[in-house]
Amino acid sequence: MPKTKDHSTMSTGAPAPSDRNSLTIGPDGPILLHDVHFLEQMAHFNREKVPERQPHAKGSGAFGVFETTEDVSNYTKAALFEKGASTEMLARFSTVAGEQGSPDTWRDVRGFSLKFYTSEGNYDLVGNNTPIFFVRDPMKFPHFIRSQKRLADSGLRDNHMQWDFWTNNPETAHQVTYLMGVRGLPRTWRHMNGYGSHTYMWINAAGEKFWVKYHFHTQQGMAFFSNEEASAMSGADADFHRRDLFEAIARGEHPRWRLSVQVMPYADAKTYRINPFDLTKTWSHKDYPLIPVGTMTLNRNPENFFAQIEQAAFSPGNTVPGIGLSPDKMLLGRAFAYNDAQRNRIGTNFHQLPVNQPKVPVNTYQFDGQMAYHHSGNAPTHATNSGGRPWADDTGAVSDGWEADGTMVRSAYTPHPEDDDFTQPGILVREVFTDEQRAALVDQVAGSLLGGVRSPVLERAIAYWKSIDPGVGGRIEKKVKAGSGDKPAEGMGEG
Ligand code: HEM
Repeated sequence: MPKTKDHSTMSTGAPAPSDRNSLTIGPDGPILLHDVHFLEQMAHFNREKVPERQPHAKGSGAFGVFETTEDVSNYTKAALFEKGASTEMLARFSTVAGEQGSPDTWRDVRGFSLKFYTSEGNYDLVGNNTPIFFVRDPMKFPHFIRSQKRLADSGLRDNHMQWDFWTNNPETAHQVTYLMGVRGLPRTWRHMNGYGSHTYMWINAAGEKFWVKYHFHTQQGMAFFSNEEASAMSGADADFHRRDLFEAIARGEHPRWRLSVQVMPYADAKTYRINPFDLTKTWSHKDYPLIPVGTMTLNRNPENFFAQIEQAAFSPGNTVPGIGLSPDKMLLGRAFAYNDAQRNRIGTNFHQLPVNQPKVPVNTYQFDGQMAYHHSGNAPTHATNSGGRPWADDTGAVSDGWEADGTMVRSAYTPHPEDDDFTQPGILVREVFTDEQRAALVDQVAGSLLGGVRSPVLERAIAYWKSIDPGVGGRIEKKVKAGSGDKPAEGMGEG
């Protein structure tokens, strides 16, 4: 803040000499090296960006509150989910593949990241607007993301590369069907659902464990763009979703989502007909109906985009007592990836920034490092110590663990009786999509395939869609073979 009413200051707090004129010898003479204010301006400007997030670079968000309205204490002891609890939170929405400046309305999955500043430490739920994902082993994730980004030589996005990855990895079928369907083009962030996607663990006060899936249902109603609307909007206003959220909150229209969970008894996981930890699958709502939990309301815009959104750091590994991870290999891979990305993207002590700081006292032995400003004074820096500083000493079986035994292997999951890659996307196409939505899906896929997908990927893609649904696959094939007289639908790979 300025020291005086009518003066800006330098970063030292001393009055700034001028924000308009650099120091020169005479009005037309050379600039002087001892114009420290000018040099600081130039040098800081050169460093005022941080690397963008590798995936999910384009996004925005807002602060709000999560209110637990129902009693779910049978399933979790987390203070956040105690009936009546009200917890401050931050949400960030994003697209996956685009860079910082990319249009909000290009077809893509949308990120749905939540940070709850709970009374037991920060809890992050980093999900998407779809309940499933493209792959089920984290080893494939960097390859998947690269296939969605840009070609090595031209720097262009490329339908061929995307379909090459998808058709070589049939477990992508369910998420690709979502993406090519209406949910690939949400009208606004306010009008989309959010999902934790993975299976997580909940633990109650008695120590009983459950497997849980999170569903955030928009109270604004789901709404989507057509290809034409989305395409026009990406030209008219590349920041449409960012603007919509900011302006709605500024108007006092605070978007809300209802959280419900599906809860699976711990022992069911072994015998359920599909592997409940496979991120490419949903659980039947008949088997595990939705149980309401509470409401999330976004009610406060960021005051500074960079400090509060760009430097926000979410990680699926950030859990609190009463909530744990699960044997989902993707989730376990993510538990490492995010904090590591943030140490690189923001800096070693990213967790000390106000937006990432918990609201509870921190007593960590993480010590020093670049830009450390929270410190523990002269308290001992080693545990165990004789200086009276507390340290942790849990031993034995962990409360949020599970059993694991066997030889170390590199292998796909052990299949459950009904595990296959095409049944669930087939159900989505036949039983969830309307006739109109199915027709739009056929157009979208055919348009994307016609947008530069070559043999043998093209034939593989048609076989992939016939495996999802013979009727839809046949219609896509017909359109592609006819070279479609129609205008090609907007593909994922517009570059
Ligand atoms: C093994 C698989 C995955 C890896 C290694 C991975 C890695 C990453 C990394 C490194 C970031 C950037 C983090 C940052 O710079 O702050 C990111 C962002 C993100 N990821 Fe993942 N990801 C994976 C799977 C997923 C899945 C399955 C979902 C959704 C269910 C997801 C949702 C997101 C979201 C929403 C963001 C944006 C976070 C934000 O708003 O700051 N990711 N991911």
